[in-house]
Amino acid sequence: MNLKAVTFLVLFAVTAAQTVSNDTLPLIIWHGMGDCCCNPFSMGHIKKIIEEHVPGIYVKSLMIGPNIAADIENGYFMNVNDQVKDVCEQIASNPKLKNGYNAMGFSQGAQFLRAVVQRCGHKVRNFISIGGQHQGVFGLPHCPTLPEKSRVCEYIRKILNHGAYHHWIQDYLVQAEYWHDPLNEELYKEKSVFLADINNERVINQTYIDNLNALNNFVMVKFLRDTMVVPIESEWFGFYAPGQDKDVLPLQETELYLQDRLGLQKMEGEGKLHFIAYDDDHQRFNEKWFMTEIVDKYVA
Ligand SMILES: *[C@@H]1O[C@H](CO)[C@@H](O)[C@H](O)[C@H]1NC(C)=O
Ligand SMILES: *[C@@H]1O[C@H](CO)[C@@H](O)[C@H](O)[C@H]1NC(C)=O
Repeated sequence: MNLKAVTFLVLFAVTAAQTVSNDTLPLIIWHGMGDCCCNPFSMGHIKKIIEEHVPGIYVKSLMIGPNIAADIENGYFMNVNDQVKDVCEQIASNPKLKNGYNAMGFSQGAQFLRAVVQRCGHKVRNFISIGGQHQGVFGLPHCPTLPEKSRVCEYIRKILNHGAYHHWIQDYLVQAEYWHDPLNEELYKEKSVFLADINNERVINQTYIDNLNALNNFVMVKFLRDTMVVPIESEWFGFYAPGQDKDVLPLQETELYLQDRLGLQKMEGEGKLHFIAYDDDHQRFNEKWFMTEIVDKYVA
C-alpha cells in the first residue's frame, strides 16, 4: 500500500470516528414497577454507568409526575395511556431529543416505551426491552424488593385476581392494563385499555405498525430464571396458547404474529428483532454483559 492510500485510510478512519461520535443518540430509559427515575441503586445507577461508558451521551431517565414519590405511585395508579401521552410530550418538548433517540425500558417500563414508539411518531432508532412483558402477564407472583417496596403491591395482587377487567380497575390500575387472561381471551381483547390496543388486538392501527417498523432494532432480553414475570416468554413477545395457562407459545406461533397484526413478520425478515436470553432472575444482570451485549451494540 502506498503512502497516499494509507493517508486516505487514516483520514477516512478519523472522519468515520467523528461521524460515530456525532452519531451517538440520546437515550431514554423508563423504570419498572415500584421503582422511580432516580434511585441510586437502580435507574440512577444505570444512567451513571452508561454515561461513564459512553462519553458525551445524554441519558434521560423518565419521571412520571412532579416528584419521586409521585413517580413511584404513578407506576401503580396512573392510567398507562395518560403516562404514555405525558412521555410523548416530555420528549417532544426537550430540544436535546429532537433529532431522535434510543429507548430502553425496564420491566413494565418496556411495554410502556413500546407504546411511546408506536404512538408518538418520534424518531427512535433502537428500542431495547429489558425483561418487558409484551403480551402481558397472568400472575404477579411477588412484589419487587427495591428499597421502596410497598404494601400497595400486595394489595394490587389481590385486586388483579378478583377482576382485572372491571372498567374502574382498568382505568386506574396500571398492572390491570397489561393483565392478559388466556382463559378469557375475548374479555381481554374487549376490555384491556392498554395492552390489547398497542398489540392491535381489537383493530389494526397501521400507524403502530409503521412506527414500530421504523426502528432499526427491537431488542428483547428475557431472564431465563425470572420469578416475577408469568409467563416468562412474554419477555420475548410469546404467551400462553389461548384457553389455558400451561402451554406457552413462542412469538412465532402466536395469533398476533401469524395474523401479523403488528408487522413483526416483516421486522423479523429484516433482521430487526433480537431475542437475547440472560440466565438469571428478573433484572439481575452483570454490568459487563450489559455494556458489551446491550450498550455497545445498540446504544453507543
Ligand atoms: C461533529 O463533531 C465535530 C467535533 O465535535 C464538530 O466539529 C462537527 O461540527 C460535528 N458535525 C455535525 C454534523 O454535527
Ligand atoms: C392509531 O394510532 C394513532 C397514534 O396513536 C392515533 O392518532 C390514531 O387515532 C389511531 N387510529 C385508530 C384508528 O385508532
